[in-house]
Amino acid sequence: MKNIVVLGSTGSIGTSSLEVISKLGKGYKVLGLSTYGKEALILQQLKKFKPKYVSVLPKATHDKIKNKIPAGTKLLSPTLKGLNFLSSLKPADLIINGLVGSVGFEPLISSIKAGKTIALANKEPIVMAGELIMKLAKKYNAKILPVDSEPSAVFQCLDGICPSTYHNTSKLVEKFFLTASGGPFFNYKGNLSKVSPAQALKHPRWKMGPKITIDSSTLMNKGFELIELMHLFSIPMDKIQIVIHPQSVVHGAVEYKDGSILAKMSLPDMKLPIQYAITYPEKCKSPVKKLDLFELGKLEFYRPNLNKFPCLNLALQCAKKGGSYPVVLNASNEVAVQKFLAGEIKFTDISKLIEKVLNKNPYKSARNLNLKKVQEIHNWATKHSREKI
Ligand SMILES: NC(=O)c1ccc[n+]([C@@H]2O[C@H](COP(=O)([O-])OP(=O)(O)OC[C@H]3O[C@@H](n4cnc5c(N)ncnc54)[C@H](OP(=O)(O)O)[C@@H]3O)[C@@H](O)[C@H]2O)c1
Repeated sequence: MKNIVVLGSTGSIGTSSLEVISKLGKGYKVLGLSTYGKEALILQQLKKFKPKYVSVLPKATHDKIKNKIPAGTKLLSPTLKGLNFLSSLKPADLIINGLVGSVGFEPLISSIKAGKTIALANKEPIVMAGELIMKLAKKYNAKILPVDSEPSAVFQCLDGICPSTYHNTSKLVEKFFLTASGGPFFNYKGNLSKVSPAQALKHPRWKMGPKITIDSSTLMNKGFELIELMHLFSIPMDKIQIVIHPQSVVHGAVEYKDGSILAKMSLPDMKLPIQYAITYPEKCKSPVKKLDLFELGKLEFYRPNLNKFPCLNLALQCAKKGGSYPVVLNASNEVAVQKFLAGEIKFTDISKLIEKVLNKNPYKSARNLNLKKVQEIHNWATKHSREKI
């Protein structure tokens, strides 16, 4: 029996994960769930999956539902402490981390320190502190399995060798291809400063939560994935090629020394990489619609336009500089996306805000960051992005 905790069970990754677990059936048990504010959905999930533990943040939601929790489920404290406890449960065989943004940082560290196997969708903590996270994963013997579809594709092309323990890629592989649909504005000819949150939230291929959908529309998401790939597989940046591929059928590829390329292809559905992380190293039957090559017809590949999508350019610069830069990048992007969604800034202000904060980064020379330092830099960048701009 595999006991599974799903962090962020009411989000896009969380609900897909529960669907996959349901379909897999026997052999998989949900041990814990967590939500932020979706009371009705979490109550439905508790009824269906009967987990031993649930974490509900914030306190207002926690207090509203505390008398409705079914017998047999323990409601944890409405604090990060409760979420960290859930992330490191002793009997858990797998922690699916479907939290969004920097809020997943501490729970991820808790899972790692408990030596867990982690199916990681929540890429932002890796952007913030990839080097440190991989060091800790090694120290505590934790395994990180990518759920993000492109890193999962690369993982599968590398024959499923666990990234936390795999340090040999540079000997075998010449290049890694990281594909991107291009988002809703790939072919957009209008003025990007006028696009609304509703337009940016209309992703052409993937149905995801709001933060990652905006990150996909600015291509920041691809920059984040490049950083994620660098850390998960110890890949130098110059070996990663970002490719715009509007069909979203090739999710990632590796070019081996001999010039042959292995690509992972499927219809765009997160349930596939989620299932692989759950059943790893097995590949099991899946209800996801199969790719029909005849129906597909053609595959297109383009170079990304860094002038049109300056967020990607900023992410590449930060990936190169390392140290505190990715921490500041992530925090300022988080605030900029919130501001854009709230109608406070224009789409084109997202990159401007991030660039301004990066230029004022007082931690320019910080290297070998520890947990305390990462948190300090993150807090500075968040505060600065909120207040000064
Ligand atoms: N969605 C995708 O297809 C996809 C693909 C690849 C990678 N990812 C990555 O996976 C992660 C999750 O993405 P998503 O699209 O599933 O996001 P989402 O739909 O917004 O779900 C996020 C989950 O985290 C919970 N949450 C939000 N803020 C919280 C807080 N302050 N404290 C505790 N819990 C909180 C949410 O609770 P509520 O539901 O109550 O708000 C929800 O359960 C992101 O890092 C994203 O980049 C997503």
